[in-house]
Amino acid sequence: MRMHNRLVLALALGAGITSIQAQEHSYAPSDIENGRSLYQANCLGCHGNNGDSVEGANLGINRFRRAGNDEELIALIRTGIAGTLMIARPQFSYGDLRALVAFLRNMQTSGIDAPDAREVKLGDASRGEELFFGAGNCSSCHGVGGGGSRLSPDLANVGAQRTPASLETAIIDPRKEVREGQRFMQVTTKAGQTVTGKLLNQDTHSVQVLTEQEQLSSYLKDDLSAWTIVPTPMPSSLDVLSADQIADLVAYLVSLKIVQEPAK
Ligand code: HEC
Ligand code: HEC
Repeated sequence: MRMHNRLVLALALGAGITSIQAQEHSYAPSDIENGRSLYQANCLGCHGNNGDSVEGANLGINRFRRAGNDEELIALIRTGIAGTLMIARPQFSYGDLRALVAFLRNMQTSGIDAPDAREVKLGDASRGEELFFGAGNCSSCHGVGGGGSRLSPDLANVGAQRTPASLETAIIDPRKEVREGQRFMQVTTKAGQTVTGKLLNQDTHSVQVLTEQEQLSSYLKDDLSAWTIVPTPMPSSLDVLSADQIADLVAYLVSLKIVQEPAK
């Protein structure tokens, strides 16, 4: 019986029906939603909006090199992959892991944003780099492979994670497209204290933020009266830089890509 099922699966895959695994189980919409927010807070920074920004690991196509079924996928996420940046995540409950898997299995249909594929003007990357570390003041917040504030994303791989058009948007209208893993949250405790910081992680019961003083604070949702996403602190460069300067910066950002050798 088992053999037979496998054969049918293999034939179906061969015929290009790749969604058969997703149809094997059905996933509760609430699990997919929880999984989405866990993904956004914990995975998106490396794996990207479409799950394809780490070389050698495409999470967006519902086929995994190292895991066949859901339990193997759960085990993989919990224990990580030795010798890679994919570290163990012992903090996740079994329910969190199942929600992540539900999201990954449905990423194609309930994925994040469609990438912005508009063509935009690319200037000169080396002038862009000078601006970034000089008059543009970008490096006062951002590092590129190190440096920068822990509140702002390191941009070392941003050219692989966003399209040129979405990088331009990031510069001229930063509030428009904030990636979920980089959101800022304001929490208010029932005791009346208000704290704003970068949202690091949240699950059903708790939320962790990195405060403006770069301190890690963890709250139980039971102790909070409110928690809400607030606008990014990144200023717009629209009225500060010329169109040519913005095009130079976009060209520099497009060039920022980490290429990782796929594991054997
Ligand atoms: C610091 C970067 C980083 C983060 C954060 C991260 N991963 Fe990964 N992930 C990797 C790398 C690197 C690989 C291995 C790529 C390779 O060598 O094949 C990987 C591999 C995987 C694979 C195996 C893909 C396959 O085809 O077998 C899965 C599944 C996965 N990650 C899921 C997740 C999930 C879910 C999260 C969030 C809980 C997450 N990752 C967070 C870097 C990361
Ligand atoms: C006051 C600090 C600050 C300054 C100055 C700043 N940024 Fe940002 N930037 C942020 C923060 C915080 C985020 C994450 C939230 C968001 O997307 O706005 C961000 C996001 C970004 C992103 C998107 C990153 C991603 O992974 O999606 C890009 C690209 C970017 N900034 C480029 C720049 C450039 C270029 C400049 C200089 C013209 C600049 N930033 C100046 C704080 C800053």
